[in-house]
Amino acid sequence: MIRLESVEVVFGRGGPDERRVLDSLTLAVPRGQHVSVIGSNGAGKTTLLNAIAGSVPLESGRILIDGADQSRFPEWKRARYVGRVRQDPLAGTAGDMTVLDNLALASRKGPRRLRIAVPSRLRRELRDRLAELGMGLEDRLRENVNRLSGGQRQALTLLMASISRPAVLLLDEHTAALDPRNAELVSGLTRRFVGEYGLTALAVTHDMRRAIDEGDRLIMMHEGTVVADVAGDVKKGLTVERLVDLFRRTRGGDYAEDRDLLS
Ligand SMILES: Nc1ncnc2c1ncn2[C@@H]1O[C@H](COP(=O)(O)OP(=O)(O)OP(=O)(O)O)[C@@H](O)[C@H]1O
Ligand SMILES: [Mg+2]
Repeated sequence: MIRLESVEVVFGRGGPDERRVLDSLTLAVPRGQHVSVIGSNGAGKTTLLNAIAGSVPLESGRILIDGADQSRFPEWKRARYVGRVRQDPLAGTAGDMTVLDNLALASRKGPRRLRIAVPSRLRRELRDRLAELGMGLEDRLRENVNRLSGGQRQALTLLMASISRPAVLLLDEHTAALDPRNAELVSGLTRRFVGEYGLTALAVTHDMRRAIDEGDRLIMMHEGTVVADVAGDVKKGLTVERLVDLFRRTRGGDYAEDRDLLS
């Protein structure tokens, strides 16, 4: 369970460009829930993920992961609870290390790390996990990651972020830089890992169709706070049109560009 209680993030405190980027944001995500996060540019989506990961300090409020207050812990201390995949396929892996070494490092992280001491057994286990990606990486264990395609690299990053079953998986437009086929592949893997590993996931996307189709719950952010929160049948019954309409109403006006703003 992830709990954010009245979380505030302010950039440029006291300066001419002071900005309240998260504003009294309260959100509880039960264990195993897959949440899609949408909202216009600058709404605070990445900052929300940064706040959970500990990459930005809180002005006030608390963040609890599985009941423990993480608010004052630095990013490196929270890393064992947090898996993260960013938009850039180059961001999550070490390009000058091999596929096997990248994954082996990730598998040793966190409270539920793989406890396999025998190198040959670990190697077999990791090879099997790589084979599940369906991208042929199990035959490229000794190749450096910078030889992989963007889609392969992002699939590997997702596996690395998920393998130790972190308390929360943070996905920031992680398929946006991929071609449609690879985006579909990585999305499918995401659904699978979240389901099979029982992960709690927050997935930011500008793809409203995907936000409706994927996950158990959808939240819409605007100006640093959650302005819509739907789950269950209401979410299933959503259409892109209704989502745009919801956004229009929360903004309190009628803007022709609403659809463009969200997407
Ligand atoms: N480190 C920072 N210092 C100052 N301002 C920042 C910082 N990080 C983000 N901001 C500002 O905070 C606001 C929210 O940014 P954020 O990246 O969270 O938006 P977002 O919802 O992820 O947008 P996008 O859809 O474009 O990725 C923006 O106005 C941004 O310029
Ligand atoms: Mg962002």
